Amino acid sequence: MLEALKQEITLKLDNVKDLEELRNLKVEVLGKKGSITNLTKNMKDLSVEEKKTYGSQVNDLKNLFTQLFDEKEAILTKAKIQADILKDKIDIFLPENNFSKGTYHPLTLMTQEIENFFISLGYNVVEGREIEEDKYNFEMLNIPADHPARDMQDTFYFDASLLLRTHTSPVQVRTMESKQVNEAIRMICPGKVYRRDEDDATHSHQFMQVEGLVVDKNVSLADLKGTLALFAQKMFGNNTQVRFRPSYFPFTEPSVEVDVTCPFCKGQGCNVCKGTGWIEILGAGFVHSNVLEAAGYDSKVWQGFAFGMGIERIAMLKYGVDDIRHFYNNNIKLLREFNKVK
Ligand code: FA5
Repeated sequence: MLEALKQEITLKLDNVKDLEELRNLKVEVLGKKGSITNLTKNMKDLSVEEKKTYGSQVNDLKNLFTQLFDEKEAILTKAKIQADILKDKIDIFLPENNFSKGTYHPLTLMTQEIENFFISLGYNVVEGREIEEDKYNFEMLNIPADHPARDMQDTFYFDASLLLRTHTSPVQVRTMESKQVNEAIRMICPGKVYRRDEDDATHSHQFMQVEGLVVDKNVSLADLKGTLALFAQKMFGNNTQVRFRPSYFPFTEPSVEVDVTCPFCKGQGCNVCKGTGWIEILGAGFVHSNVLEAAGYDSKVWQGFAFGMGIERIAMLKYGVDDIRHFYNNNIKLLREFNKVK
């Protein structure tokens, strides 16, 4: 009987074609209710002597098929791997699939470049909010409701207290205010801002700014000038110089407008710089004591400088883009070109 069973299983095993069949047959033979396992169930009626011989024969049979199943599994696994390799073979001579790769928007690239520069100087990059309260956009920046400086930035209002921020300067206040105790700050904040400006070659109703704020106990205008000179050289080349012109912002005192040597004519005078050799890139100044105090900083101990620049204007100068609207009218050809320039 054992011999017959052995032959029957051997035959079945020979006919197994894949791992699935092998797994099923293994259960059928060696599983809990398998044909070999079942053999031991008849042993209770045998004498002790018979049990010994029969038991050992059944055991031999079990060991034999355990080994044969393992061998067969190894053979079938190897065959399957080879079949899979053949199936997945790549024909490297097939013509390529021509797909177009996405690229970063020029303003994203420009922002990253500016961020990387300031991060290398130890600044943090913080985020502000585009929908801002009047309080942060104007009042705490020393621009009360009837202040004429409000006309400098024509505003999109939601209601009397909520607006689309007109500049990134509210982030100065929010950053200072977020500190539990007065502490030094070195931050930049890039982001979108909105003004009811007429769109033309250099103005857009939506544009991007980067705000910068440094607050510490021993800050001077020389630090501001040194930082911006380094920035200008990084952006426009090593020979670029900066100059400060007196200006007015309600939230800084003194306030300056910052010019760089015209990147197009290298300061010789051309159409772009209207023959002056200089181009304005940003507004800056020393944080007004009213702003420091409103945000909880003791202005007798702490001073700071701040600056705000238009990202499109920097990109236009750096890459010779003649109209700010190119960044916003989704001209895919121009966007691709810009990535090549980079
Ligand atoms: C401001 O917005 C101040 N908050 C900057 C500042 C920050 C001063 C911190 C002092 C301290 P201004 O309105 O000049 O300043 O704008 C700053 C820059 O934004 C300009 O130099 C220009 O590059 C850019 N800009 C202004 N209006 C537009 C516009 N309509 N389209 C594109 N860029 C603009």
